[in-house]
Amino acid sequence: MCGIVGYIGYKDVKEILLNGLEKLEYRGYDSAGIAVRNEKGVHVFREKGRIADLRQTVDVNVQAVTGIGHTRWATHGVPSKDNAHPHQSTAGRFTLVHNGVIENYEQLKKEYLLDVPMKSDTDTEVIVQLVEIFANEGLDTEAAFRKTLQMLKGSYALALLDAEQEETIFVAKNKSPLLVGLGEGFNVVASDAMAMIQITDQFVELMDKEMVIVTKEKVTIKNLDGQEIQRAPYTAELDASDIEKGTYPHYMLKEIDEQPLVMRKIIQAYQNDQGKLTIDQGIIQALNEADRLYIVACGTSYHAGLVGKQFLEKVAKIPTEVHVASEFGYNMPLLSEKPLFIFISQSGETADSRAVLVKVKEMGCKALTITNVQGSTLSREADYTLLLHAGPEIAVASTKAYTAQIAVLSILAHATAESRGIKLEFDLIHELGIVANAMEVLCDTKAEFEQIARDYLASTRNCFFIGRALDYYVSLEGALKLKEISYIQAEGFAGGELKHGTIALIEEGTPVVALATQQDVNLSIRGNVKEVVARGANPCIISMKGLESEEDRFVIPAVHELLTPLAAVVPMQLIAYYAALHRSCDVDKPRNLAKSVTVE
Ligand code: G6P
Repeated sequence: MCGIVGYIGYKDVKEILLNGLEKLEYRGYDSAGIAVRNEKGVHVFREKGRIADLRQTVDVNVQAVTGIGHTRWATHGVPSKDNAHPHQSTAGRFTLVHNGVIENYEQLKKEYLLDVPMKSDTDTEVIVQLVEIFANEGLDTEAAFRKTLQMLKGSYALALLDAEQEETIFVAKNKSPLLVGLGEGFNVVASDAMAMIQITDQFVELMDKEMVIVTKEKVTIKNLDGQEIQRAPYTAELDASDIEKGTYPHYMLKEIDEQPLVMRKIIQAYQNDQGKLTIDQGIIQALNEADRLYIVACGTSYHAGLVGKQFLEKVAKIPTEVHVASEFGYNMPLLSEKPLFIFISQSGETADSRAVLVKVKEMGCKALTITNVQGSTLSREADYTLLLHAGPEIAVASTKAYTAQIAVLSILAHATAESRGIKLEFDLIHELGIVANAMEVLCDTKAEFEQIARDYLASTRNCFFIGRALDYYVSLEGALKLKEISYIQAEGFAGGELKHGTIALIEEGTPVVALATQQDVNLSIRGNVKEVVARGANPCIISMKGLESEEDRFVIPAVHELLTPLAAVVPMQLIAYYAALHRSCDVDKPRNLAKSVTVE
């Protein structure tokens, strides 16, 4: 969701910015723009749509070595060229890109900008106009920028150019992610290390309410009182090839295929020298001291949390609740005496989850973040972090991060159980190995899922996913995947709940994907299938080896009953992928969605 890049150095900046923005496309956006500064002033190019459209508008004859760029995911104002960033102040002296939401922009407009004609509907324009007003009052750019920042309420990552100040990018951050990257004779700015990893792997983290003055030689971090802050850079452990598609047509397919490898990486990462699965003792102690766990997450991560609850309760025997982050603030449950919060977030940047983290930290609670991104906001602000080791996930629809989250949660439950002297009934390393093999088999059977997508989803308006027990949670994820990328209306239901309303929607030919991987409820879910078939549904039963029956469309290789979501989700992912492909949808960048949702 909104991405920022900036470069200041010695090379022509246009390609660097456009390449960087392409690397941020995965975050989700609906317009894009760049601004470059040279001795003639600042030149702005913006376009609605994709970076490819923006490329067409950029004047190749403009040469510059300083510039900023932006991908915008609309919040204030429709996606349009006028609302696209960068935005400029009335006199054109200042040019700004912004990620985040300024909550008091209406009020600031009324107070300071009544006479200033606005060119867009965005909250961002208010910031750039304020900087110009304060500069016109006689402040230098740094002071005018600082004065503006002190007035802003909300979230922002900002990069500002001043047409009158040679080769400087002014940067600031509050609640929205932003990094400064260091190079030889150049420096960069990026929402995500991925955008600039091709040219540097040295990055400096920025904290909230900090501003940075970036020149090609120097990076000066200050707080909003103007005091300088020293911070050492870190090396981003990101391989440039990790973020390339290689021979794959889409990142999503590549990431689905990477899942067996990710399972094996996770086993390795959490295995000690004696070959046992192990988790940091501080984290285990925190779980053992808690009387209840509260998992908080959004989207796919929430679905992984539902599966995680089963491990934590069944294996580690700790009562666990799972909550949607965006609801938690106002629907907060009555907390237990010793709660421990577990935030699950692929990106580690999701604003809804972060808002809960901030709140529970204020209440004095401890928090663990399970994330794919080391150094992400949720990781930094929680007491403990567990990493997913899934490698960069670029397709908007999450796949390998979901299975990695479930695998890490299973290891967490396992290690906690062991520390409590609970007798473990299975060898998790061995069972996760079986899962990895099963995933491989499923990934090698793509043609089968392509055919299922063709047979069931080619022209349907809607599709239902049903399951019981753990299969119910996978049904929710299967439905989410399908709606995210194919735009088919899809809903996941507990098999038994269907008859309490939703069955009214079943018509002749309505596809119903039923998961049957759970022994205890195998007969019941098959009963539900009969109910919908009697009303005309077109059933697609996906079962597991050992539970199969003649009517099944596909049988998944057997895995341990508690780990079935790890295998059962792969057909869901592939069916969604092929359904989207058949419908000519933009698989990796579905409409209206963002990968990293940094607004609440
Ligand atoms: C967005 C993405 C989803 C993701 C959700 C939570 O909505 O489109 O794929 O599941 O955010 O993201 P997180 O990074 O916190 O796991």
